[in-house]
Formats: sequence, structure tokens, C-alpha cells
Amino acid sequence: MTSTTTVPFTDVAAMSREVWPTIERDYLDCLLGGGYIGGPSVTAFERDWAAYCGTGYAVGVANGTDALELTLMALGLGPGDEVVIPANTFIATAAAVVRCGAVPRFADVSDDTLLMTPQTLKSAITPRTRAVIVVHLYGQMPDMPGLMAVAQEASLLVVEDAAQAHGAEWNGQRAGSFGTAGCFSFYPAKNVGAFGDAGAVVTADAMLADRVRTLANHGRAHGSAHHEHDLVGTNSRLDALQAIALSGKLAHNVDWTDRRIAIAARYREQLRGTGVDAVAVAPSARHVYHLFVVRVDDRDAVRAELDSRGIRCGVHYPVPCHLQPPLRQFVVGPLAVTERVAEQLLSLPLFPHMTDNQVDTVCDALAELVPGRAG
Ligand SMILES: Cc1ncc(COP(=O)(O)O)c(C=O)c1O
Repeated sequence: MTSTTTVPFTDVAAMSREVWPTIERDYLDCLLGGGYIGGPSVTAFERDWAAYCGTGYAVGVANGTDALELTLMALGLGPGDEVVIPANTFIATAAAVVRCGAVPRFADVSDDTLLMTPQTLKSAITPRTRAVIVVHLYGQMPDMPGLMAVAQEASLLVVEDAAQAHGAEWNGQRAGSFGTAGCFSFYPAKNVGAFGDAGAVVTADAMLADRVRTLANHGRAHGSAHHEHDLVGTNSRLDALQAIALSGKLAHNVDWTDRRIAIAARYREQLRGTGVDAVAVAPSARHVYHLFVVRVDDRDAVRAELDSRGIRCGVHYPVPCHLQPPLRQFVVGPLAVTERVAEQLLSLPLFPHMTDNQVDTVCDALAELVPGRAG
């Protein structure tokens, strides 16, 4: 029998309820007016998302996976090319590389932040490497200046997988604005989440933005007739109802991100001295806490006990991406940190509407289950 939930892992409905009064009018007008594909609400969200990220252009697409795949295709990556990605990531990062015909090469991550480092990137580069996808996992950016320097030295294109890092910064510069392109997911549980699937690509390069848009719209170039197709593309458009929902969510993002950061600070404070190690934050990083990830011994037992008390946690990710069956063929060397930490990772509940009492409930349970190590 499952216990009653006292602390859910997230609460996307609470976000929807808060946003709904601000978008109800536009949403219903669109729903009853029939303009579902493209139109002013998509253009307005794209403009605002580009400004939010500090880039010139944003192209709305159907989801974050397509954002990555279309970006790699638009950059001309394909068979014979290698793309370095961190081993500690969601499988979509690797899948996008494989689906465009290139080969993913996995880089290990830092033991502190669990993100790719300039050193791990460097050791994964071969003469066939043409690009790197830097993943801002959990809501934190890695050492971008260091990674950009290594990429530049090896003439690599840099794509940012910022699916989990809406509004994250490195030295005040936003996620998505460092590389050639930044790719976002607006899956409902993301910091800015749609009422379904959605995504975006941001870039400072007008031609790249056009190419992604063309690929995402059946290969129709901007301004061309409905049945003129310049490229073999796909259908991966952001729809108007999702754009309205996203604009509403974006308006709440500053407050919600501040709340996420405050919850994380409360967790850190209360978990100090226990055997629970929160993932480190680099001094130059603004972590936006899509996830609050900690490391514990006996993770599965701790998680089960929390669950029996109604505290729902997640694991990101229990099986590292490179050990998933279809990706093992691409592994060339050990990825020791990623493999070791996969057994310890635990994502604690964190969402903007979480109360301080709920945070304290989680911390009290953890302090009891994972007391500080003696000495
Ligand atoms: C790091 C990362 N990359 C890519 C994606 C793919 O995004 P989507 O689910 O919108 O396709 C996700 C989604 O969870 C993600 O977390």
C-alpha cells in the first residue's frame, strides 16, 4: 500500500493554478478563435524568451529533444562526426547526437558539481570531434569560460543543453548565450513549463535561427509558400496555446526562481552536519534549482523509507546515459565519477509552492535516517 503523500516531488498543477487567471482570456480567445499554429502568441513568446536568455533569436519547437536534434542538423553535424557530451545527463542529449547520424563521446564529470569540466572535455576530444554539448544539469552551469577555451582551441562548435537551466548564469551571463546555440525544454515540470511538451532554440546567429525554423516547419523557408520546401525537415513547431501558457509562466519566473533558491538555501542549512551531501555550487554559478540533488549512502533504502513517510524523491539518473543498452556501443573508456555517483544520487522535493514546513519535514526525516558521520 502506498502512503499518503505529505511532500510531493513537484507540483505542476499549483503553478498552473497560479498562472491561469493571467492567461485565461488569451488562452480561451485562441482556443475558440482557431489560430493554433504560429501567430502572434508564438512570436511574442519567442521574442521574450530570446530577451530572457540574452540572445538575439529564439525559435519555438515541439520539445527539448527536438531543440537539440534540429540544432545539430542545422549545424550540419552528421555521419563521421563526433560530439562530446557529459555522461551524467538525460538520455535525450545523447539521443539527439545519434539521431542526427553522429557519434556521442562521453566525458566524465566533476565529483563536486557533477558537471563536465574543461579537463574531462579535453580528454574526450579526438580528431573527429566537431562539437560539444555542454549540459547545465540540475540547474547549474559548469565552468563556461574554461569549456569555451578548450572548445575554441579544438575548433569545436558549442551547443548548450539548457533544458534544466532556465535563467541559470555564469558570472551574470545567462544559460544559452555562451555557445553557438542553447536548447531548452519546457516539459511541464521544468522551471518554465508548458501545459504539455514544448521547447526552444536560442542563438545570436540569424542564419542558424532561420535554418532551425525551416527544419522545424517541413523545410519551408521563411516567407516561402505553403507547399515550397527547401529542405527535408520535420514538424516540430511550438503551438500557440503552449506559447500563451509559457508567456504566463515566464512572467512568474523571477519569483518562482527566487523561491527555488530560498528552498535550496534552507535545505543546505538544515542538512549541514548530516550524512547528506548536497551537490556543490561553483562561486560563479547562479544555480536555479530545477532539481535539488544530494548524495547519500544506501540511497535506495533511504529513498524507500522517505517514500513510506509520504516524501517523494527522484533519482537523476539511476543508470548513467552511457550504460543504457543502445548507447553502450559508444563508450570508449571508464567514466568513474558518473558511475560511482549514480548509486548515491537522490533528488529531494523542490518546487516553488513548497512550504518551509515541507522542507523541514524532509530535513527532519533525513537527519534521522542519515545522521552525521562520527569524527
Ligand atoms: C538535460 C535534458 N536534456 C534534454 C531534455 C529533453 O527535453 P524534452 O523532454 O522536452 O524532449 C531533457 C528533459 O528532461 C533534459 O533534462
